[in-house]
Amino acid sequence: YPPLMREGAPLIGVIGGSGLYKLDNLHVIKTISASTPWGSPSSPITIAKLDTAKGPITVAFISRHGPAHNIAPSNVPARANIAALKHLGVKAIVAFSAVGSLREEVRPGDIIVPDQIIDRTKGIRPSTFFDGAMVGHAMFGEPFDKQLSEFIVPHIESAINSFPDHINPSDVPRLHKERTLVVMEGPQFSTRAESNMYRSFGGDIINMSSIPEAKLAREAELSYALVCTSTDYDAWRMGEAPVTVEEVMKTLTTNASLSKHITASILEAVHEAVASQSVLTTAEGSMKYSLMTNH
Ligand code: ADE
Repeated sequence: YPPLMREGAPLIGVIGGSGLYKLDNLHVIKTISASTPWGSPSSPITIAKLDTAKGPITVAFISRHGPAHNIAPSNVPARANIAALKHLGVKAIVAFSAVGSLREEVRPGDIIVPDQIIDRTKGIRPSTFFDGAMVGHAMFGEPFDKQLSEFIVPHIESAINSFPDHINPSDVPRLHKERTLVVMEGPQFSTRAESNMYRSFGGDIINMSSIPEAKLAREAELSYALVCTSTDYDAWRMGEAPVTVEEVMKTLTTNASLSKHITASILEAVHEAVASQSVLTTAEGSMKYSLMTNH
């Protein structure tokens, strides 16, 4: 395929989750309607620009659930999203997702950079690029790019501290790292019993969308880190009503503007680190020994 962009191709891709449908705090240069062998991505890809002391840098943005939030978690065209970003020349993805909290100390409004996943999707989502002539087994013991995740944590911390619009300025969101994300099928929320079961599994947060995205990013040799914004306490807290969309929506708007602020604040550093390979991500070349043959 010819390259989607010849000049100024973005190194960094951002995938926005619920609430984060556009990056309107960056300068939008153009939108690209991409098509891939796996169909069209969830949204046109927005190419946005940030001017830095070292010159302009660009970022590619996809809205996971579509700009009008009309794509259910089970129907997100994750293969098209990842393939289109790869085709654009992207090397690293910072994805955002709204999550429910399975732990008291992870409060609604908090930010989490998880390091593990428990996959509770039901096998109905196409989750590999290897469904043709070849069989590939990607390493997935570390589902997120460790180096990239560790690199972004202090930059996110500074971004949280410099965000002017906290709901409660005397109680700014906390940043949690090394947490386990449960990914469920949905679209219905969990029962109380399921919510407690996920806690007993060791789950800290829960969403419906990071599988197969993280798996496909690995197969495409893209480094992939996830930034989660907590919206609710799911269904496990006795004496409190289980999560509803209304509750999720309450924090979604503020979470989305914080996510946009985080994106703009960390972009220059992430771009520099990826471009100079000062963060040596493990993604590139990771599929080299993943093919099964009879030789
Ligand atoms: N996304 C946001 N809150 C959630 C929850 N409680 N369960 C699953 N996905 C979610």
